[in-house]
Amino acid sequence: MSRYKLLLVILTILSGNVPKSFCANILITEDLPSKSHQIWNYVVADALVARGHNVTVLGPKSISTERHERFHSIVLEGLTKSVATLFTPDELTKVGVIDNILLINNFAVFACNYSVNTEGFKFLMNYPKDFKFDLILSDVTLSNCLLPISQRFNFPPTAALTAFMLPPHVSEAFGNPYPLSYLPYDLLNFSDQMNFFERLQNYALARMDTFLKYIYFEHKIEEVARSAFGNDMRPLEDFANRLSLLICNLTPGFHYPRPITPNIIPVGGLHINPKKKLPQDLQQIMDDSKNGVILFALGSNLRSDSLAPEKKIAILEVFGQLNQTVLWKFESQLTNVPKNVIIRKWLPQTEILAHPNMKLFVSHGGALSTTEAAYFGVPIIGMPFFVDQRFNIELVVSKKLGVKLEYSALTKESFLSSIQEILGNSRYSVEIKKLSEQLRDQTEPAINRAVFWIEFLMRHNGTHIFDPKSRHLSNFVLSSTDVLLFLSVLACLLTYICYKVLFLVLRRLCYDCRKIKKE
Ligand SMILES: *[C@@H]1O[C@H](CO)[C@@H](O)[C@H](O)[C@H]1NC(C)=O
Ligand SMILES: *[C@@H]1O[C@H](CO)[C@@H](O)[C@H](O)[C@H]1NC(C)=O
Repeated sequence: MSRYKLLLVILTILSGNVPKSFCANILITEDLPSKSHQIWNYVVADALVARGHNVTVLGPKSISTERHERFHSIVLEGLTKSVATLFTPDELTKVGVIDNILLINNFAVFACNYSVNTEGFKFLMNYPKDFKFDLILSDVTLSNCLLPISQRFNFPPTAALTAFMLPPHVSEAFGNPYPLSYLPYDLLNFSDQMNFFERLQNYALARMDTFLKYIYFEHKIEEVARSAFGNDMRPLEDFANRLSLLICNLTPGFHYPRPITPNIIPVGGLHINPKKKLPQDLQQIMDDSKNGVILFALGSNLRSDSLAPEKKIAILEVFGQLNQTVLWKFESQLTNVPKNVIIRKWLPQTEILAHPNMKLFVSHGGALSTTEAAYFGVPIIGMPFFVDQRFNIELVVSKKLGVKLEYSALTKESFLSSIQEILGNSRYSVEIKKLSEQLRDQTEPAINRAVFWIEFLMRHNGTHIFDPKSRHLSNFVLSSTDVLLFLSVLACLLTYICYKVLFLVLRRLCYDCRKIKKE
């Protein structure tokens, strides 16, 4: 440290201007064995470490944990492996929406049960009794399973993280509305323009998910958590109510415009660091590709080498006909590769998308990938497989940022015509470049916003001043159903009274007129 800096530090300390959250001890918990989620969470962790905090992550080991001396990893050992080869792409595309809902909820119970029975979990629970964390950040994408850890550490302020945009049940847990009349449920392939029957499905399926969680899966998670945390564990709902903020992967402007309450901080794309450099060899290849570059990458969970053999052959044949350079993230060996196609087991996706010669991104439609493409202005061919990928690709198509190609419909002809549609038609690239400029025009990088709010939360011991009342109202009151019911009953009553009065008056009149006639 230079003498000048040292002086500055001493002066700051003497003047009492040291922020209260200086060098805090922070715990991040996650029970979701997904590389992409971990990439996102680790960017948050790294940023906190860079601010001088001591960060401990309890989670699966989906990506490397080698980082910094103030970064500590406690691995939920085996969790990543336990799901590694669950599905092939062919099987995934055949899973319907209801099966998807059940699959994800059952998976949440599985991951909870697996996590609390690991040595890693026990290691954390055996920390000294008086060990103090100043903050716990918990990834609540799957469930609230690990929230009771805060009871073990004497209730430090807690906040929630999710790289999964903003699903309805999480949104509602923070008192934030999720109007199903125009916001598609994230497991469906609808956009924000739905006809009546689509809205009907959207409503029914989203509500079904919430209802199943309410009557069954949340109890199951609670039971599993209680078996690990002991009988004095408070109800999970208590912990959920204690959460201060939700830091989520929404990008206003790219994702559908929607209401967001002040206790939710949308920091979509926080994982994008536009200053990162490409490795020298790739930089050279991309600089030299005067006809442009196409990137083919199916994200961190799906593998290109597990695509059906005939699809792989079709893809290679089409690529061989193009005069662009193709970068394909392909996890094993491949023979008969055309000269313009470069195969790598791993590719630095963000850095590649940032290159000015990028022309097209063939993607599975993950939340991180689509956000990166929008951020750097690269049009997309989306081949969605599962969970939120259909939702993301529908968003891309509805904003005219790319086209969709169903994996089941992928042939030489359909693949080539999708590529020609994008490359021969500037409207996609014009549209997404315009969006890209707007997304980059921000007061600060999204990660700085996340760090600011996390430190704010520590400085002020929670942020419940931002909670709308809706967080603690029942659905019955929140939706004004009680008032509507009352008004309906009142309207019925009034109608009935009017009817009775009218009836009496008419009878009276008729009686009178009959009497007049007789006379
Ligand atoms: C930093 O975190 C590690 C791992 O949880 C812990 O052992 C260590 O005591 C912490 N350091 C400080 C200064 O709190
Ligand atoms: C922080 O807030 C919690 C309740 O949310 C409270 O129990 C605790 O006493 C507060 N701590 C301080 C230092 O104000």
